[in-house]
Amino acid sequence: MAARIVLLVAALFVNHCVSQPSCTNLTIPVTASARNGRFPESLNPQTEVEVTNFVLELTRQGTNFTQASLEGYATVSGTFNITATYCQPAAGAPDVIQVLTHGIGFDRGYWNLAFNNYNYSYTNVAVGTYGFATLAYDRLGIGESQHGDPLNFVQSWIQMATLESLSNMLREGSIQGIPKFEKVLHVGHSFGSIQTVGVLKMDPNVWDGVALTGYSTQSLYFDFFELASDFVEAQPLIPEYPLGYLAPGGTAALEEDLLGPNEFDPTILPFLASTGAPPTVGEFLTLTAGSAADGPPTEFTGPVLVISGQNDLPFCGGNCDQSFTGYPTLPAAAQRLFPNASAYQTVIVPGSGHGLNLQYTHPFTYAQVNGFFIEHGLGPSWSGSGWHRRGGSKSH
Ligand SMILES: *[C@@H]1O[C@H](CO)[C@@H](O)[C@H](O)[C@H]1NC(C)=O
Ligand SMILES: *[C@@H]1O[C@H](CO)[C@@H](O)[C@H](O)[C@H]1NC(C)=O
Ligand SMILES: *[C@@H]1O[C@H](CO)[C@@H](O)[C@H](O)[C@H]1NC(C)=O
Ligand SMILES: *[C@@H]1O[C@H](CO)[C@@H](O)[C@H](O)[C@H]1NC(C)=O
Ligand SMILES: *[C@@H]1O[C@H](CO)[C@@H](O)[C@H](O)[C@H]1NC(C)=O
Repeated sequence: MAARIVLLVAALFVNHCVSQPSCTNLTIPVTASARNGRFPESLNPQTEVEVTNFVLELTRQGTNFTQASLEGYATVSGTFNITATYCQPAAGAPDVIQVLTHGIGFDRGYWNLAFNNYNYSYTNVAVGTYGFATLAYDRLGIGESQHGDPLNFVQSWIQMATLESLSNMLREGSIQGIPKFEKVLHVGHSFGSIQTVGVLKMDPNVWDGVALTGYSTQSLYFDFFELASDFVEAQPLIPEYPLGYLAPGGTAALEEDLLGPNEFDPTILPFLASTGAPPTVGEFLTLTAGSAADGPPTEFTGPVLVISGQNDLPFCGGNCDQSFTGYPTLPAAAQRLFPNASAYQTVIVPGSGHGLNLQYTHPFTYAQVNGFFIEHGLGPSWSGSGWHRRGGSKSH
C-alpha cells in the first residue's frame, strides 16, 4: 500500500513537473559591506611574465603568499549590480528556491550550459524535473555582474557579503520580479562551495539546506590547479575585463583542471574555452577567506550534502577516495565543519573530475543534489490541485 502511494505521488509529480522552466534575466542591486584584504598595486600583473610570476609566488610550497603580501585591510561597501537568471516551473513558484554560486573560470552559465542543446543544464533538471525555483547569479566582478579592481575589490570577502545579502533578499521578498520564499537553499560549486562555508560561519541561519559540489576541506592541491591553468591575461582575449583578470592558457589546461579522463565529450573543451569567465588575482589571494578548514566549525543546523568527483584535481589532487583523519574519503572530512547539521552526507561521483556538470555523469549528480533536499524535507511544496503557493503570497 505504501509503495502504491509513493508510485502514485511520483507519477503525479512527474506529470506536473517535467516542463520547460520559465526563466528571466535580471540585474539586482545588492547592498553589501566587507573587510577586504589590501595588497600592494605592484602585485596586479600587467604582462604575461608578471602573470606567471604571480602564479609561481602563489604556489611556492611552504609559503603563504597572501600572508606575505597583505598590507592590511580596507572596508568596501556599496550597492552592486548583480546579474542573475531566475527560473521557476511553468506552473508557478514553489515555496523554496536554490541559490546557485559558480566556481572559478565560469559565470552563472555553469548551471545552464548551452552545450549539447542544454542537455547538461542543472536548472532544467532542478526546476523542470523537480519543481524547485532557482537563482543563478554571476559573482560580483564576474560575467555580467559589475566588474571592478581585480586586486583589491573583486575578492572573496565582498563576494561572500553579497551572497549573504542576496539570500536574505529572497527570504524577505525584496527583489523586484521574484516572489518571496519561505525556504532558501544554496548550491555552490568549487569556490562557490568554499564561499558557502565562509558565509555560514558568519551567518548560520542564512540558508535552510546546502549542497557543496566539487568540494573538500583540502587546500593543498589548489597549487596543482593554479599551475595547470597556465594562466594568461584575459585582456585582450576578452576585452571587457581589465588586466588582472586571468584566463586559462588553452584546452589542455581546462581538461586538467576540470575533467575526469574518458568521462566527458571532448567537444566540450572548445565550448568551455569560448564561454569561460575569468577569475581575478584578488580571488586567488583570498581563495579560502573566512572558511579555513582548521578554523572554528559552523553552527549551521540544516542538512549538508558534499558531492565531489572521484578524480577531482583541485580539492583532492585527483583522488578523492583517499581517507583522511578517520574519515573514509577526503570530501567526507568536511563533516567536521558541520557538527550541528541535522544531516550530513558525502557522495563521490565515479570517474568524474572537478567540473561535475561537465561530465557524462551529470544526471547522477543532479539527482543526488535534488534528491538530498527532497529527502530532508526541503522539496517544493505541492498540493494535489496545484502549486502550494504562487507569486509570493504567503500561506499558513
Ligand atoms: C539570459 O542571459 C543569458 C546570458 O547573457 C542569455 O544567454 C539568455 O539567452 C538570457 N535569457 C533570457 C530568457 O533572456
Ligand atoms: C595564509 O594567510 C592568510 C592571511 O593571513 C590566511 O587567512 C590563510 O588562512 C593562510 N593560508 C593558509 C593555507 O594557511
Ligand atoms: C547599475 O545599474 C544601474 C541601473 O541599470 C545603472 O544606472 C548603474 O550605472 C549601474 N552601476 C554600475 C556600477 O554598473
Ligand atoms: C543527456 O543525454 C544523455 C545521453 O542521451 C542522457 O543519458 C542524459 O540523461 C541527458 N541528460 C539530461 C539532463 O537530459
Ligand atoms: C552546536 O553544537 C554545540 C555542541 O556540539 C553546542 O554547544 C552549540 O550550542 C550548538 N549550536 C547550535 C546553533 O545549535
